[in-house]
Amino acid sequence: MAMGLSTAKPYRRRLFLLLLRCTRTAEPSPKCPHHRPLSCSSPAAAAEPTHLRRIFRPGDPNRFAPGILDAFWGVRRFSTSVDPISGGDKNLERIFIQNMSVKPIVVDGVDAVPIEDERKEVVNTVVADAEEGKEELCGGKVGDLDQLEVGLEVRQEKEQSEVEKEAWRLLDRAVVSYCGRPIGTVAANDVTAANQAVNYDQVFIRDFVPSALAFLLKGESEIVRNFLLHTLQLQSWEKTVDCYSPGQGLMPASFKVRTVPLDGSNEAFEEVLDPDFGESAIGRVAPVDSGLWWIILLRAYGKITGDYALQERVDVQTGIRLILNLCLSDGFDMFPSLLVTDGSCMIDRRMGIHGHPLEIQALFYSALRCSREIITFNDGSKNLVRAINNRLSALSFHIREYYWVDMKKVNEIYRYKTEEYSHDAINKFNIYPEQIPSWLVEWMPDKGGYFIGNLQPAHMDFRFFSLGNFWAIVSSLATPRQADGILNLIEDKWDDIVGRMPLKICYPSLEYEEWRIITGSDPKNTPWSYHNGGSWPTLLWQFTLACIKMGRPELAQRAVAVAEKRLPIDKWPEYYDTRSGRFIGKQSRLYQTWTIAGFLTAKMLLENPAAAAVLTCDEDLELLQGCACSLSKNARIKCSRLAAKSQVVV
Ligand code: GLC
Repeated sequence: MAMGLSTAKPYRRRLFLLLLRCTRTAEPSPKCPHHRPLSCSSPAAAAEPTHLRRIFRPGDPNRFAPGILDAFWGVRRFSTSVDPISGGDKNLERIFIQNMSVKPIVVDGVDAVPIEDERKEVVNTVVADAEEGKEELCGGKVGDLDQLEVGLEVRQEKEQSEVEKEAWRLLDRAVVSYCGRPIGTVAANDVTAANQAVNYDQVFIRDFVPSALAFLLKGESEIVRNFLLHTLQLQSWEKTVDCYSPGQGLMPASFKVRTVPLDGSNEAFEEVLDPDFGESAIGRVAPVDSGLWWIILLRAYGKITGDYALQERVDVQTGIRLILNLCLSDGFDMFPSLLVTDGSCMIDRRMGIHGHPLEIQALFYSALRCSREIITFNDGSKNLVRAINNRLSALSFHIREYYWVDMKKVNEIYRYKTEEYSHDAINKFNIYPEQIPSWLVEWMPDKGGYFIGNLQPAHMDFRFFSLGNFWAIVSSLATPRQADGILNLIEDKWDDIVGRMPLKICYPSLEYEEWRIITGSDPKNTPWSYHNGGSWPTLLWQFTLACIKMGRPELAQRAVAVAEKRLPIDKWPEYYDTRSGRFIGKQSRLYQTWTIAGFLTAKMLLENPAAAAVLTCDEDLELLQGCACSLSKNARIKCSRLAAKSQVVV
């Protein structure tokens, strides 16, 4: 629960003085010399370039918005042109941070600059190529351009259902303003829970993503732009848990807009942003996923609005680099996956997901893919881009190879030999076959498979986690066959994963002794409740994205139809309980914003499947080649694209 001003500890008081202030002054705060307060009158906090509003207007003479075009064309100006991946430079991140040690500075006024000539030229060329039908586009063929445009026109004309209208009303009601401008949405607007000690009145980074997409797909970009810029400023904030400060690039889990007396007097008030980096959160866990979501949203914002000027700003580029620096810095790890504590993502309580949980790995992979597209490529960033490519290729190999399970793989594990001490061990992580849970033996379908929840030495967590599997599909961390396999499994296990309310956060739940030991007897995470096998409707939009990408929108449609019947009647709960998702969750908030926004985003994506392409990433064979080539040095296999494919693609 967030603390009130009067009860703040000394260090918190100091922080309050330094909070992001909404004042008339543009002078740097003397107590925080590196930081320039964002003033209400600052164009950085406010101005929305007028060209953004044009994007989805049918019949616009500027027919193809640059953002949409880039999305379809696959503009990766900074990614595919980098040097081929070759042996990693272990000092890359250090070199990089030396260049990056400045705090973000908001560069005012850059936004108002119209699309630069170079980009206009790119856009014109693509339009010409596309119209001639020459160019094959990222995430779709040329024809998709028209499809997208037509789709958007259709959506605008289509009468919204009563449920959608209600959802939009509720989403609008959840909007939080700062200095008179929209900046995010509260986690929940549940009046019945108002007196409970919780932080659902805050704007959560992860929760805001579906709201942002709903607004963007509707053509409203200002709130997203403000959110991206303000959270960026919070990123470099002073943060401390007792006497220790986490890395500078950490993004908060959430923030709150507070009204406080101006300079101690009760006559004037100002608004301040009060972030929570985990120092107030239950369990004091750092939200590792926040920065990853921020990057994913930043790329989506550019692609949907065409406002690339935002991502090119110096402070925004610095923000991306600070996040990546945290993720890519050297440590003791033997794996390319990110090592995190329990509860560092959507599941923000103890659930036995410390180590290398799939959710974080899939979001990490997605954020790296997005970063590669949006980092300005120059001498200062080329080492970073190389580090990203190296990591992407190692990470995709690692996850595809070691996290994937299907009937064949489970049978292999069942016959594993253990204690293999050698370079060419089959059972590299020394998994004891006895670990295969009894439920899995029956549950695994003949067709299909999934990525397991976690991999550690001598430990495979065989639980199915939805978010990680969906993002593995969306980002192309999964091979096309694996992606299909995941959807096959969901179809086959519909009653377990979708049931009476989509979608299970994980399957199955922890029970009895496992629950006691792994959750620490958490009364909120009892079997088939909350994070422990509860059903979370917000996962709908991510499932929808994955289904559309794989050409199986009918699966998502089925799931949305199930949700649509219940959500308005049940007052848009945060989560559902029981094995089939039959009850509204024991402690579930009502009017949970990401439930509402997730539903709307899923609906909009289904109406405009082509729009989903701008949010996904395609398979990149060059990345596979990178890993296959370094592996082939040992195996003396000729390094080629074919070798890459045959080695890595399942
Ligand atoms: C709960 C969820 C977390 C979410 C937050 C706000 O703590 O576990 O994922 O961000 O509520 O909705």
